Amino acid sequence: MAAVTETQVLDALRGIEDPDLRRDIVTLGFVKDIKICDGNVAFKIELTTPACPVKDQLKAQAQQAVAGLPGVTQVAVEMTAQVRGRETSPQELIPGVRHVIAVASGKGGVGKSTVSANLAAALALTGAKVGLLDADVYGPTIPLLMGIRKKPLMTETPDGPKIVPIAAHGVLVISMGFFIDENQAIVWRGPMLGKALHQLFSDVVWGDLDYLIVDLPPGTGDVPMSLAQMVPLSGVVVVMTPQQVAQDIGNKSVMMFRTLEQSTGRTIPILGIVENMSGSVFGTGGAERAAERFGVPFLGRVPLDPRICEGGDSGTPALLLAPDSEQAEAFRHIAGTLAAQVSIVQYGRKAGGSGR
Ligand SMILES: Nc1ncnc2c1ncn2[C@@H]1O[C@H](COP(=O)(O)OP(=O)(O)OP(=O)(O)O)[C@@H](O)[C@H]1O
Ligand SMILES: [Mg+2]
Repeated sequence: MAAVTETQVLDALRGIEDPDLRRDIVTLGFVKDIKICDGNVAFKIELTTPACPVKDQLKAQAQQAVAGLPGVTQVAVEMTAQVRGRETSPQELIPGVRHVIAVASGKGGVGKSTVSANLAAALALTGAKVGLLDADVYGPTIPLLMGIRKKPLMTETPDGPKIVPIAAHGVLVISMGFFIDENQAIVWRGPMLGKALHQLFSDVVWGDLDYLIVDLPPGTGDVPMSLAQMVPLSGVVVVMTPQQVAQDIGNKSVMMFRTLEQSTGRTIPILGIVENMSGSVFGTGGAERAAERFGVPFLGRVPLDPRICEGGDSGTPALLLAPDSEQAEAFRHIAGTLAAQVSIVQYGRKAGGSGR
């Protein structure tokens, strides 16, 4: 029997659609390095994120499609990923960072920092290069959550001395807390705040990152606005508790970013809503309905669990402290849906759409 051809392999793979990007994997340019030797076929599928939630499904489909071709005796599919970022210019503050994702909430105490730390760790677990920037100038808690007790070091670069982020649980971390004295309350005034935030980007060697998660202070103050002006945001994750949904507080956050879009002239997609402390006395499901109302994705819910507090106290995110727990599963799931949304928005932009 004649050996199978590359065209036949590609045609077979054209039948497989990426459920998020709604295009077949050949058209998307995911299929790489096809090698054919008699009945043996090997190729790579290069996804847009290592956190792709349907990675295993796509692999199985590809395997099956090619194995069904006449003359094929063995198929080896290697799954890889290359996070595609926006077009960057060297003038940008952080040209090596492909996606900046802000985590916001309408009000304090909803678990923004917990969600930021766990999502960063979950994305890093998949193999992505991840940074975590604690921009909560009023109450930076990320060092505590990530178990960091030291201050970052400086390094000499061609652009002068810069700060080196601290690696913790596979994530590169910088916190406002590293630079302010915890016993000293700082009254931030507008310009000073903007300058401090700017330095967290410009004076830090962030290097090459797939995702930089930014933990914002609660509410709708100056920080989100400065951030949106300073760096191109790939989007925002809004954290709500069922209680807040009931009180309509989470909505403020969504509305604020929609207003910021207009005032900055930059698109700031809401990547989705996370419901935290789900299953508390205020119930569950409210955030999903809120997401529907706003026409934004619902990324998932994190159950209320005392172990999350313990994770915070121990300096290890719950995801890593209790990897078999329901919340760990929730964080892995949300990291996947979030990464998928980032890819969808990115693809939409490339294709000339609004990315929504
Ligand atoms: N799903 C959960 N189950 C149980 N406890 C949680 C959960 N999520 C967060 N917590 C706890 O709730 C408290 C507030 O969480 P966190 O500090 O992450 O909120 P935040 O929104 O960042 O707060 P702030 O507005 O002060 O920055 C912490 O003690 C944390 O351990
Ligand atoms: Mg916080």
